[in-house]
Amino acid sequence: MRAIHRIVTTRLCSSFRPILVDFVSCSPLRQCSIPRRRLICAAAAKANGGGRSGSIVAPPLVSEEDFQKIDVNPPKGTRDFPPEDMRLRNWLFNHFKEVSRLFGYEEVDFPVLETEALFIRKAGEEIRDQLYCFEDRGNRRVALRPELTPSLARLVIQKGKSVSLPLKWFAVGQCWRYERMTRGRRREHYQWNMDIIGVPEVTAEAELISSIVTFFKRIGITAADVGFKVSSRKVLQELLTKYGVPEGLFGRVCIIIDKIEKIPIDEIKKELGFTGMSEDAIEQLLQVLSVKSLDDLEDILGGAGEAIADLKQLFSLAEKFGYSEWIQFDASVVRGLAYYTGIVFEGFDRKGKLRAICGGGRYDRLLSTYGGDDIPACGFGFGDAVIVELLKEKDLLPELGQEVENIVCALDKDLQGAAATVATTLRDKGQTVDLVLESKPLKWVFKRAARVNARRLVLVGKTEWEDGSVSVKVLSSGEQFQVKLNDLE
Ligand code: HAM
Repeated sequence: MRAIHRIVTTRLCSSFRPILVDFVSCSPLRQCSIPRRRLICAAAAKANGGGRSGSIVAPPLVSEEDFQKIDVNPPKGTRDFPPEDMRLRNWLFNHFKEVSRLFGYEEVDFPVLETEALFIRKAGEEIRDQLYCFEDRGNRRVALRPELTPSLARLVIQKGKSVSLPLKWFAVGQCWRYERMTRGRRREHYQWNMDIIGVPEVTAEAELISSIVTFFKRIGITAADVGFKVSSRKVLQELLTKYGVPEGLFGRVCIIIDKIEKIPIDEIKKELGFTGMSEDAIEQLLQVLSVKSLDDLEDILGGAGEAIADLKQLFSLAEKFGYSEWIQFDASVVRGLAYYTGIVFEGFDRKGKLRAICGGGRYDRLLSTYGGDDIPACGFGFGDAVIVELLKEKDLLPELGQEVENIVCALDKDLQGAAATVATTLRDKGQTVDLVLESKPLKWVFKRAARVNARRLVLVGKTEWEDGSVSVKVLSSGEQFQVKLNDLE
């Protein structure tokens, strides 16, 4: 088929960038050798209001010659998953999924493409500036999801009273953020999420952290390698109420505070000043954020508030779940998303070399921001990138080779049909089979068997086949025998 591609311009963050869309698969193509004049053409066509109604811009056709030389790398910040990487990804995702099931969670999924409005919050979050957003052919503003939580909230509202609470849901899905690339931060990543909807008690957060600890233990990570910094947004809420900061500014203040380690402190103070906080209040707030013990926090806030009560309960439950040595109080943890309302936590590597491994918290009021009735909720997101960096650091990456139980090979070209029958017989019995599809010398077959880690070699030779039998060689022991096809297990 003749390849016809169109160039569209689309808004990415605030700037216009050209994106190539293959309208057969609807997937973005590599930004390759597109002559600049063609891009100009596309922009000009848009300005002239060209193109059929509903399309993004008037799309000039680009001839096949323009696409002869493509960049074979995936777009910056994204990854291919060749088999060796896919094995690792499957290994990781299987652990995510098995742990979720161990805790009684059900798997859910959502579209990667959502309406842009789902991700637009007013608090000035970084995640909003990183949004991959554009207009589709029906002139709808859409975005590639940067996280899963808004989609989950949307689905909970949609399900309404048809679901009985609490819900315990998990998902593993791809997220897109136009990030500055650092170690473990990419423009596309997969996130494992576990969320509990309908439980107002801290028992929910305590169990969520327990599930992450269970995951770490399964893959060989210990409390000496990683920990969780835990705090509560209620700490800030109580302080801000004390300083007369309006409730509506709470999310904004949290976002500013989350940047403390990323931008100079004077900038932080200036931004906090814009929210109406006095200099004195800002100084005291920054002082409280440096508190690292619950007792010291209690001295500052007094023992009566919800923040202290929640945190004490969490630490007590951590003991019962058996992960006390994994968690520590740290008032500076507020998290960068506006919707958290209570306990917040982040997984970190104790050597301090990597960005946050995972993070989550309570978001009791997210649903009402979408017009739904609020339901208490909490959860976490765990990316697939930082954990792999950590496993590399610790030399804990598993060695995962291809695994196939049998290689089936015809010894004669005429017996290729017979070999197909043998392969089908084995596959019907649940055995994995790599069938040799061409006439190859035995030396080649043995090499291939070693490469795919085959357990057995099943050879289909003329004399044996006339007798309804095949030769089997067990590769680990060298044992060799003949067996009737029907008896081959
Ligand atoms: P988040 O802290 O933005 O939270 O992301 C959660 C985790 O996703 C991070 O700790 C990190 O492991 C991974 N992650 C985030 N951005 C990137 C990136 N650019 N490259 C690689 N990995 C990344 C959330 O997204 C919340 N929605 C989590 C949540 C679920 N809260 C409640 N339920």
